[in-house]
Amino acid sequence: MRLVIKDNYDELSRWAAMHIADRIRERGDRRFVLGLPTGSSPIGTYKELVRLNKIGYVSFRNVTTFNMDEYVGLGRDHRESYACFMEKELFSQIDIPRENINLLDGLTRDPEEECRRYEERIRDAGGIDLFLGGMGADGHIAFNEPFSSLSSRTRVKLLTYDTRVQNSRFFNGDISLVPDRAMTVGVGTVMDARSVLLIVSGLSKARALKKTVEGPVSHEWTCSALQSHERATILCDESACSELKVSTYRYFKNQ
Ligand code: GLP
Repeated sequence: MRLVIKDNYDELSRWAAMHIADRIRERGDRRFVLGLPTGSSPIGTYKELVRLNKIGYVSFRNVTTFNMDEYVGLGRDHRESYACFMEKELFSQIDIPRENINLLDGLTRDPEEECRRYEERIRDAGGIDLFLGGMGADGHIAFNEPFSSLSSRTRVKLLTYDTRVQNSRFFNGDISLVPDRAMTVGVGTVMDARSVLLIVSGLSKARALKKTVEGPVSHEWTCSALQSHERATILCDESACSELKVSTYRYFKNQ
């Protein structure tokens, strides 16, 4: 696992976007499969990717995307659905063909079947080249809450009370409006990606970052599974490093 430390959120966002754009460019005309998250962490990266697309540095014509997760019960028209978020923050502003966008359908009649089909779609696309992700304050990746199996696949998860409280900020602070279930790729699905890039910003993530980087691999902090991934990069800002040991911080800062 590699840790890249940037001074602040803006620098981190520019680095992430350039990294993604360069991986896409390296492919030339061949397909690139990109896994994508929602949340506040990737917003700066998406803004920068939109800019890089507009100035012609990178094109998404040959990019296929798979989003990580979606609330059960929220359709694309709901402003807090992840489908709506992606449309607003990225898809409507770049040159990606609509048919290349893959999202879990929050209004599906059969969420379990939708999850099974999603895994198949990922397989049919040849697997994910780069999975971009964020991190919950409790160290979850996608919606793989603490104690999720580290070999889990796409499935329905019951959200923890803490996650619903955290995410209620997007629902006028009203936890009763936050769905209690979500469909999410599994930790195993993320681990199968050929590379993973996690964006971790701010003091509220400091404890989770410490557990992820310095702790043992544990289903309690599902992001820690990335320690055994061959090509995982955690991209963080200085404040997210606040709880790291000095020796850990120095090691990665000097890389
Ligand atoms: C949600 C999402 C995660 C995301 C996390 C952190 O739980 N399912 O994919 O990483 O929130 O969100 P934020 O970036 O807003 O802190």
